[in-house]
Amino acid sequence: MSATMYPNYSPGLEGVIGGITTISDIISETSTLVYRGYNVHDLASHGSFEETAYLLLFGHLPDRKELESFMATLAAEREVPAQVYTALQQLPPSTHPMDIARLGFAAYAPFDPDYNEPATNHDANLRKAVRIVAKASTIVGNGHRIRTGKAPLAPKPEHTIAQNFLYLVNGVEPDAETAHVMDSSLTLYAEHGFNASTFACRVCVATLSDLYSGICAGIGTLRGPLHGGANEEAMHMLQKIGTPDKADAWIHNALANKDKIMGFGHREYKKQDPRAIYMTKVAKALGEKTGDTKWGQIADILENVMATEKNIHPNVDFPAAYAYYLLGIPIDLYTPIFVVARTSGWTAHMVEQLDNNRLIRPKCIYEGPTSETWVPVDER
Ligand SMILES: CC(C)(COP(=O)(O)OP(=O)(O)OC[C@H]1O[C@@H](n2cnc3c(N)ncnc32)[C@H](O)[C@@H]1OP(=O)(O)O)[C@@H](O)C(=O)NCCC(=O)NCCS
Repeated sequence: MSATMYPNYSPGLEGVIGGITTISDIISETSTLVYRGYNVHDLASHGSFEETAYLLLFGHLPDRKELESFMATLAAEREVPAQVYTALQQLPPSTHPMDIARLGFAAYAPFDPDYNEPATNHDANLRKAVRIVAKASTIVGNGHRIRTGKAPLAPKPEHTIAQNFLYLVNGVEPDAETAHVMDSSLTLYAEHGFNASTFACRVCVATLSDLYSGICAGIGTLRGPLHGGANEEAMHMLQKIGTPDKADAWIHNALANKDKIMGFGHREYKKQDPRAIYMTKVAKALGEKTGDTKWGQIADILENVMATEKNIHPNVDFPAAYAYYLLGIPIDLYTPIFVVARTSGWTAHMVEQLDNNRLIRPKCIYEGPTSETWVPVDER
């Protein structure tokens, strides 16, 4: 229904202010993203994902002592009870890792020692948030092992979250460069304002439900190809194109068919997505290092045509897709990597929502019939 008929209605809530936050800011005009005042480029290039997660949850960058204590807590909280693995083992092998992640958190929830604390208990919410961030890479990594017929591995306390994910997925120690690429991509994916999945998390806990129900809502919302699922779709698209010489004809044909090009466009950024700028550099450098530059070449052609013909630019999912591919990560784990990262932003938002809660309940415009007459079932 056209928005012009209803001046107060904005389809998709575009431009509608859904709340106040101190967690992150998207400055569309300058293509800038800040987490609690820090430019995401600085956090990704100089800091670790753990520092970013701490910043999002506790509101400031940790000093050395706080960081060491946070890392120790994350290491201690990284494993999940055996019952969670037993639950994951019941799923058919064809189960998508996003569904594995959702079940993993749903199965763990009642084991959280703070699970039955009131929804507005700030300290308990922070403890739950840290457990969720700590366990995400284990649930996704060992979930992947289980669906591929392998036994779960015990996480190593000395690993970072990025290393834990790579170690569990591949079963070998990750090299430093791979771990660094993964770590910086986790920082880029950690938080992004009132995006669809974060908003779903906030809506869920605003009923005074719990953080784990919120995480399950977030994972379910992130799964779709218009949101987190775009990184997997973008890689399938690059594979379909195959070689740089086919890219120009492919993209023109797709645009002529009015296809959505996955990994392009963003509700908030009408110019560049700053995360994509950073991730493109990482992906191109990986291509040079591995000698596999064709994905970057195809990407350049698609980006140029999209910019010239549609004035639409890549979002972070586009370069992340071929960066992860060059790291040898199975394509259907790309969106779960987003989960590993975004648990930090989701939980920060849920804690913030519950600290100053009001039920989220928008109105809708009714356009159905208004004066139907009741007819008994046998006379219809
Ligand atoms: C992200 C997205 C959902 C934002 O969409 P939105 O703000 O609702 O904007 P719309 O989908 O209404 O698009 C506005 C216009 O741009 C076009 N457009 C937007 N993204 C496009 C894309 N990826 N490919 C082709 N055209 C696109 C739409 O077709 C539409 O054109 P029209 O006005 O001629 O119909 C959208 O850009 C998209 O679907 N992208 C692909 C999926 C993706 O990469 N998602 C990850 C986001 S981080």
